[in-house]
Amino acid sequence: MQKIDLLYKGKAKSAYTTEQADLLVMEYRNDTSAFDGKKLEQLARKGEVNNRFNAFIMEYLSNNGVPTHHVALLSANQSLVKRLQMLPVECVVRNRAAGSICRRLGLEEGKVLEPAVFEFFYKDDSLGDPMINDSHVITFGWATDAQMQEMKALSLRVNELLSQLFDQAGLYLVDYKLEFGLHQDQMVLGDEFSPDGCRLWDKQTLEKMDKDRFRQGLGQVIEYYEEVARRLGVPLN
Ligand code: TMP
Ligand code: ASP
Repeated sequence: MQKIDLLYKGKAKSAYTTEQADLLVMEYRNDTSAFDGKKLEQLARKGEVNNRFNAFIMEYLSNNGVPTHHVALLSANQSLVKRLQMLPVECVVRNRAAGSICRRLGLEEGKVLEPAVFEFFYKDDSLGDPMINDSHVITFGWATDAQMQEMKALSLRVNELLSQLFDQAGLYLVDYKLEFGLHQDQMVLGDEFSPDGCRLWDKQTLEKMDKDRFRQGLGQVIEYYEEVARRLGVPLN
């Protein structure tokens, strides 16, 4: 499937139309951003690593009953996906405290959160992706009550599946962000799942193996993404 027109350029991926109205090509770029785009760099191999990593995770989720937009890996940095009508909310699941929840609630990093915390954020970089609640989602028409319940249930199902998968690879799945969209009225997981949008810590050393290496200037960002991929058995070429 060939790409035709650029439909949307995000901070790390570009989406292109194809000859089939229902299908898009997602191109993963090396652009790496943090702090709502305020920190920006090019990291060699990131597009390829995240594309292959995401395909592996999306296929695992699909095989375990989570509907996803992923159709096929097309090339090193491109995948074919179903075109979704995206909902403007981000779903965050947290198994341990890290990042914004530590600042908001004064928690010590690493505190186990049992049961896992679920949060909605409004997807708007100019506002810094503010945290929102169910009432905002309804009042502003971002999703219906039933759609919110579906997003929560799918996000927690993803947590069961991926916490176990990462655990077997010697990693804690600390937290992650998912985005959903509608495909012919079905709630479908879109966007990507990669070390750019989750936190992964080595179970033995608690070393950070995700985009916090970039946010915090810890170095060897892509080397660590590749190590996570290797442990999971993601084919990288
Ligand atoms: P946070 O601690 O900054 O709220 O982020 C929680 C998790 O969700 C973390 O793994 C990063 C991810 N995330 C994104 O990738 N993009 C976003 O816009 C947000 C709000 C979170
Ligand atoms: N990806 C978002 C950004 O570029 C959030 C983050 O990962 O920090 O700002």
